[in-house]
Amino acid sequence: MLRDWLARCEAALDAALPAGDCAPQRLHSAMRYAVLGGGKRFRPLLVYASGHSLGVAPAHLDAAAVAVEMIHAYSLIHDDLPAMDDDALRRGRPTVHIAFDEATAILAGDALQTCAFDTLCRAPVPDAIARQMLATLAQATGAAGMAGGQALDMDATGQQQTLQALQHMHGLKTGALIRASVRLGALTADADAETLRSMDTFASALGLAFQIRDDLLDIEGDAADLGKTAGKDAAQGKSTYPALLGMQGARAALQEQRQRMDDALSDLAGDTRVLAELAQRATERRH
Ligand code: IPE
Ligand code: IPE
Ligand code: MG
Ligand code: MG
Ligand code: MG
Repeated sequence: MLRDWLARCEAALDAALPAGDCAPQRLHSAMRYAVLGGGKRFRPLLVYASGHSLGVAPAHLDAAAVAVEMIHAYSLIHDDLPAMDDDALRRGRPTVHIAFDEATAILAGDALQTCAFDTLCRAPVPDAIARQMLATLAQATGAAGMAGGQALDMDATGQQQTLQALQHMHGLKTGALIRASVRLGALTADADAETLRSMDTFASALGLAFQIRDDLLDIEGDAADLGKTAGKDAAQGKSTYPALLGMQGARAALQEQRQRMDDALSDLAGDTRVLAELAQRATERRH
């Protein structure tokens, strides 16, 4: 199932992106470079898995899957810019500002963000649901979500934060889009309020777990596996789980979120096996 979803997601991303051979060619090429050819597609898979657990066919989920991956790719381009994490390697290749130039990288991020919403507008759902889906993605991406979390990340660099503040920051910078991915699948199914709540409890733990694992991998992993430079967080004085709690403490925090996910899944009806598999991937991933 995951393999099929990955294939459809690749095809849908390719089709939704502007052609690389028409003007403005440099911008279009940078957008395609950032999105295609790499990445685990974890957020699109969550859209499919969440929709699937509530009986939605994958064809109805393609637009939302494309939209979350475009937002994610945009966030990575900007995260890697010299003014932010200043990274030269992403998905095993030079980052967009290195492969192209900084102005093009900024613009490619901007354009991917709006392309995501343009794509989501076309989701095959009734208008009232489409409105909720657009609001979900907008809130998760903006100042109350990913961009806000990235701002907190920049503010916290070189500082010690409380565990509560760190959890809040991770919940926004990474958790918000992961929660939105799960919610978009559930909204496509026109899920009731109680289902949406249980799904969100699961997704909140998943989002936090995903970033704690990212923090651990920055220390334990190497560039060949990660496709990005390792050891950057400590070098830049980033506020992370291992920096605050040590490796053992961060691993324990990750297991705590794993337990929360398992508990939340047992409250959900439907076929949650793929959601469980993605929960396992998030906590055990090596890249
Ligand atoms: C990396 O995300 C950035 C974080 C939010 C931790 P992923 O680990 O999903 O990166 P790709 O998409 O697989 O490259
Ligand atoms: C990235 O967090 C969060 C977003 C891109 C929103 P990181 O800065 O830890 O991600 P990597 O490690 O560069 O992929
Ligand atoms: Mg960052
Ligand atoms: Mg980074
Ligand atoms: Mg990281």
